[in-house]
Amino acid sequence: MISVAFVCLGNICRSPMAELVFKKMVEDEGLALSFYVDSFGTSDEEEGNPIYYPAQKTLKAHGIGGTHRAKQLRLRDVVNNDFILVMDSNNLMDVLRLTGGKYGEKIFKLCSFTDNPRDVADPWYTRDFERAFSDIADGCRSFLKYVKREKANALDYDKRH
Ligand code: 4NP
Repeated sequence: MISVAFVCLGNICRSPMAELVFKKMVEDEGLALSFYVDSFGTSDEEEGNPIYYPAQKTLKAHGIGGTHRAKQLRLRDVVNNDFILVMDSNNLMDVLRLTGGKYGEKIFKLCSFTDNPRDVADPWYTRDFERAFSDIADGCRSFLKYVKREKANALDYDKRH
């Protein structure tokens, strides 16, 4: 089992989109039982709120369902998850501030796994939810490829048990 926590600022747009996109990808590949997937915000601003409607609508347009309630990332969530995948450089700084600079080896920007490392475009400011979706889907696809290559033993173990 590999646990993945997607992280953005509010946990109502980018990271819940990434959570649901990645859940669908691993389901489609028959790997759902090998992953625990969740998402968090670095701020408590949106605590308890559902996925922002335009983000939900964009997911639906791509055949992806599911719900989420915003929650703030705590130090224990960083400790308890194998991968902390943030959306942009601000998220990365905020998570490292929370950990006092520790756990850097498991904290990555989602799109650092792609052929074109970049921040996920923030739809809160661009209002372009399609572009955010496309960055997120590219990041999730590339991350899954990385895990299948680098963590093949863990995935094989789950298949045998
Ligand atoms: P998210 O989007 O971090 O992708 O969930 C945002 C949500 C709320 C705010 C900014 C970004 N805000 O400033 O309230």
